Amino acid sequence: MVLPFSRSISHVSPLALRVSAWLGSSLPPPWIDVPQRSGAHKVLSSRSPCASLFFGMCCIIPHLFQLHLFIYIYFVSSNLSHLFNSFFASCHKLQESLLSSASGYSNYRGILNWCVIMLVLSNARLFLENLLKYGILVDPIQVISLFLKDPYRWPAACLVIASNIFIMIALYTERRLSVGAIGENVGIIIHSINLSTVLFFPVATLLMVNSVTPVGGVLALAVYTILFLKLYSYKDVNKWCREIQHAKALSMSRSFSSASRSQVHYPGNLTHRDMYYFVFAPTLCYELNFPRSPRIRKRFLLRRLFEMLFFMQLLVGLIQQWMVPTIQNSMKPFQDMDYSRMIERLLKLAVPNHFIWLIFFYWFFHSSLNFVAELMQFGDREFYRDWWNSETITYFWQNWNIPVHKWCLRHFYKPMLKRGMSKWVGQTAVFLISAFFHEYLVSVPLKMFRLWAFMGMMAQLPLAWLVGRVFQGNYGNAAVWISLIIGQPIAVLMYVHDYYVLHYGGEEPAAPVLLS
Ligand SMILES: CC(C)(COP(=O)(O)OP(=O)(O)OC[C@H]1O[C@@H](n2cnc3c(N)ncnc32)[C@H](O)[C@@H]1OP(=O)(O)O)[C@@H](O)C(=O)NCCC(=O)NCCS
Repeated sequence: MVLPFSRSISHVSPLALRVSAWLGSSLPPPWIDVPQRSGAHKVLSSRSPCASLFFGMCCIIPHLFQLHLFIYIYFVSSNLSHLFNSFFASCHKLQESLLSSASGYSNYRGILNWCVIMLVLSNARLFLENLLKYGILVDPIQVISLFLKDPYRWPAACLVIASNIFIMIALYTERRLSVGAIGENVGIIIHSINLSTVLFFPVATLLMVNSVTPVGGVLALAVYTILFLKLYSYKDVNKWCREIQHAKALSMSRSFSSASRSQVHYPGNLTHRDMYYFVFAPTLCYELNFPRSPRIRKRFLLRRLFEMLFFMQLLVGLIQQWMVPTIQNSMKPFQDMDYSRMIERLLKLAVPNHFIWLIFFYWFFHSSLNFVAELMQFGDREFYRDWWNSETITYFWQNWNIPVHKWCLRHFYKPMLKRGMSKWVGQTAVFLISAFFHEYLVSVPLKMFRLWAFMGMMAQLPLAWLVGRVFQGNYGNAAVWISLIIGQPIAVLMYVHDYYVLHYGGEEPAAPVLLS
């Protein structure tokens, strides 16, 4: 019998402990009682050496035998109790299965890995299929043609440079207002004209100048939209500063004298440096003193730059190789109103469209905005929150684009609530404005007014209500993802279909080209 020698001390029986204590001492063994032990000792001392040796051997051999027996009993007794425990102890207890929600189990790391592997495998197949079907469509030269029609005319770039005029008008209006050279009402009129021009000047230019490409037009309009939101915030904050200054002057308060000297105070903020810092900073909400990071981290900056360049290439490559041919193949079913083929094409487009949107999110909100913020030592890096965990549509809109959400809250939603409007009216108004800008950014560059983007954005309100009422928890999260995965390609296909019908008379272009 093989005895386990690595027992813990808790398995050792009391008898075995007594034996091991005796072995360590010079006393007679514990199983020989005292008179017996003293007699043997006397006999041993009165005999000849030979007889003593024989007598000693006779005494020791039984002891050795007994010792062996005790060691054996020690191991057998400790082992038996262990075996008893392992065979007869209960092997069941009250517990839930791992996959039932009551078990509280939440480690799905392995399943996540499986999802990623399945995703890679299925997309590798799609990638190969695409390559075999179309060959390599990625063409860096074609990218240049997306921005320029005529190499000697750069209307979109000229528009961006011209935007400095509106920045200067806003700054000088504020300077005049700060010294009281013009009244508040005149200031409001000048700002309103300036802001309206910021919105409509690029529209007029893009509609009149033919050499602007749709992509160039989107970029120029995006710059003007951002500028509009920034100048609106600039005007509001400077007005609030004047109101506070006025209130302090009335109450003869001197509290501002205790503030830190390193902080900028109104009207000390009305400088070109401050204005351009705000124009380039990755925020839409103006402040006199932005939180600043202590230094520029070079490794962080280089990593973001690398990501920006890499994801930019990846985006362009995926659009050319994957999205454009899928869109072009979708035109015929849409013209023929072949519903089953239309749904098949829509689902096919949903995959590349969604990947491209996710890559765009990371490229813009993480890599690019962090790059600019690091370069400008702009401290507030909350450009997005965990929108991917959204269980309601409302949560998604509150968390996916934080610069826009903050602007909406600070300059539009809260002022409306303060004027006594209900939350519902405030939210509808915000989504109306948002829908207007989405349509503005798509329809003007395409020179085609179809209202798909506007309707898509306005549809968020009933959708938010429906998802909030019907779905909860994980089901709500799945509903948000489905609305993103399916909703966007519907809008894309609508615009592209209408664009092709308008420009190619319903015929598919021979070569796979981007909108040009
Ligand atoms: C409309 C929208 C602004 C609503 O935001 P919301 O967070 O759901 O609004 P809430 O009703 O929860 O209120 C938000 C804030 O208003 C405050 N508030 C509520 N009632 C108020 C009142 N009567 N007076 C003053 N403030 C009030 C809240 O305290 C809260 O303040 P906090 O943010 O400082 O905590 C948001 O859904 C949104 O940004 N939508 C559009 C987003 C968009 O179009 N993005 C485009 C991305 S491409």
